[in-house]
Amino acid sequence: MDIAIMPGDGIGKEVVPAGLAVLQQVAGKFNFKYSTTDYPFGGEHYLKTGVTLPDSALKELAAHDAILFGAVGVDPRGSAKIPQGILETEILLKMRFELDQFVNLRPTRLMPGVPSPIRLASPDDINMVIVRENTEGLYCGNGGFLYKNTPHEVANQIEVTTRRGVERCIRYAFDYAKRMNRKKVTLVAKTNVLRFAHNLWLRAFEEIKADYAGIETDYHHVDACTMYMITKPKIYDVIVTTNMFGDIITDLGAAIQGGMGMAASGNLNPTRQAASMFEPVHGSAPDIAGKNFANPIATFLSVAMMLDFLNQPKAAAAINDACRAVVADPKNHTRDLGGMATTSQVTEAVVAKL
Ligand code: NAD
Ligand code: IPM
Ligand code: MN
Repeated sequence: MDIAIMPGDGIGKEVVPAGLAVLQQVAGKFNFKYSTTDYPFGGEHYLKTGVTLPDSALKELAAHDAILFGAVGVDPRGSAKIPQGILETEILLKMRFELDQFVNLRPTRLMPGVPSPIRLASPDDINMVIVRENTEGLYCGNGGFLYKNTPHEVANQIEVTTRRGVERCIRYAFDYAKRMNRKKVTLVAKTNVLRFAHNLWLRAFEEIKADYAGIETDYHHVDACTMYMITKPKIYDVIVTTNMFGDIITDLGAAIQGGMGMAASGNLNPTRQAASMFEPVHGSAPDIAGKNFANPIATFLSVAMMLDFLNQPKAAAAINDACRAVVADPKNHTRDLGGMATTSQVTEAVVAKL
């Protein structure tokens, strides 16, 4: 298998090499071969060259079996030298859109021994998978300004919702539930206000669910969903939702599963016509970058998702099991989990377990 490696910025440069150490270990253990190609795109490369992600590289990326990505972005407040959001949209979103990675699969599971901010939560309560639509919605980049910098300035940011885009995402969620023996799919949207776009979501959901007898369904408005994710997370099994809402509720999901350092994701092109991309949900974490403090578990779990997608389910399961065993012991907790372990120590522990 050919894997493109793009660490990006900040802690991406720490957690991706850690992920590669884990990959190397399981490849030896399960006897499969892989090759890697490194891609330098991110903030530093942009500052040096003015290039975000050229089309030639995108074409190469598409032809790989998968992409392992870290994070891009310099600072949530922006930077004087890098226009706001340019790295995120021209690198990360460009890959998601151009490689048609229309599902962003984000499992939200609390592992034994990991502290959750929900006082009474046990691993049995937090075990959901969020299927986030990944190529449309408010993320499409359509919009613009009128009369910019005048008192009657107008800014439009258009939410694009297509029948095809919604249907393929919802269908993926039901197929996933069926395949993984999950019992329920909940649509999360805001049909009471977004009466066009989310009405389309609801109608498509109602139509498609008829093809999946035996899977229970539910609908929640997104505001209520954020409350239930805290007060009764056990009610969620598979959630399917829009790009924007999926972005928001998966950070909330990350928080209840122990933090950003625990949350993995796969940007999937289920047709396999172009590469899928695997990355931790978190960003470049400028506040802790370069200190060996980052929790690499989210990246390891993303490597596991990648191997599962590339038909190496045993290697994937071994990584998941090793991560579970390692985080069960508080001496392996990084600072975000309340411990003192470093990125390197957690990586060594997972590699040793494997
Ligand atoms: P962030 O996820 O980078 O950080 C939020 C908080 O979580 C910070 O306190 C950080 O220290 C902590 N954190 C994140 N990952 C951690 C880990 N592995 N271990 C321990 N602690 C961790 O979000 P942000 O601060 O809003 O964004 C920083 C930059 O990253 C911005 O430029 C943003 O646009 C970008 N970003 C990129 C991606 C991506 O490339 N996939 C995702 C999210 C944000
Ligand atoms: C994520 C990130 C991205 C998103 C940003 C960096 C564009 O927050 O992967 O969740 O909003 O999708
Ligand atoms: Mn996000």
